[in-house]
Amino acid sequence: MALHRLTSVTIGVPNVEKTAAYYAEFGLTPTADGWFLTRDAGRQLRLVYAPTRRLVELRVGVDDSDDIARVSSNLTQHGIDHTTSPTSVTATEKATGVRTVLEVAARVIQQPVPGTRYNGPGRYERSNERAPGVLRTDRVMPRKLGHAVLGSPDFAISKRFFVDGLGFKVSDHIKNAGVFLRCSIDHHNLLVLAAPLSFLHHTSWQVDDVDDVGRGAYSMLENHPERHVWGLGRHHAGSNFFWYLKDPAGNFSEYYSDMDCILDDQLWTPEVLDGAKGLFNWGPPPPPSFLHPEDLAGLMTGLHSAR
Ligand SMILES: [Fe+2]
Repeated sequence: MALHRLTSVTIGVPNVEKTAAYYAEFGLTPTADGWFLTRDAGRQLRLVYAPTRRLVELRVGVDDSDDIARVSSNLTQHGIDHTTSPTSVTATEKATGVRTVLEVAARVIQQPVPGTRYNGPGRYERSNERAPGVLRTDRVMPRKLGHAVLGSPDFAISKRFFVDGLGFKVSDHIKNAGVFLRCSIDHHNLLVLAAPLSFLHHTSWQVDDVDDVGRGAYSMLENHPERHVWGLGRHHAGSNFFWYLKDPAGNFSEYYSDMDCILDDQLWTPEVLDGAKGLFNWGPPPPPSFLHPEDLAGLMTGLHSAR
């Protein structure tokens, strides 16, 4: 039938314990075997040791064995090495070194969360009471993993792997710099960015609404202002509200809400986004470290010395 969701990511970090504490505080629930759960989609993050931070594995859910056979045949056609089992296809993307596993997995049907009542001119959705966003006292806990963003030193190879090989769909392009890809109805589950080296830019986690984007970030920053990277703002590609924070290994993690959803592929036309639009629609100006994370030079040196 089809690819239907981004199942999980495995991130390698040099400081597993510290980074695990961060993601627990971020609102993911740790398990005894090194995984972290989201509220709606279960095991979606695993942390493992690596000498330098990197995306180790990306898992994608498909419906059935027909999908496995189709993807396996596509990969063969494109000369991409892979292994198959009755329920999975595994291949390593050459340019980034990310192991990618397509696996038969149950679809996640999220229960609809009632819309937050916001007042507007002549529109009184909420009267005689304070806004829910200022009354909430529960911890923000992400509903699901939304997307991962990867820097790739060979953008064309990465795009061919994910689009022609695995069957991701193109949602939008950033002119000469990146491509937004989806394996579900979300506008993007993967963004591949042209970069001088392979690195994980960020992972992104869905929360209920813009208030929870703000509340989640506020809580993370309360005793750790150094975690702040960029927010609050709204992207153009995907339209989502965002706030980016930094984990102790240097990976960015994003709270997001209100992402565009593409239910009918025929009704969506990918655009080439140029200039600032590729990056955002409104918000504070992005800090230079968002575009070029401060540890990139170090990661490059590590890469070279490891060879
Ligand atoms: Fe993002």
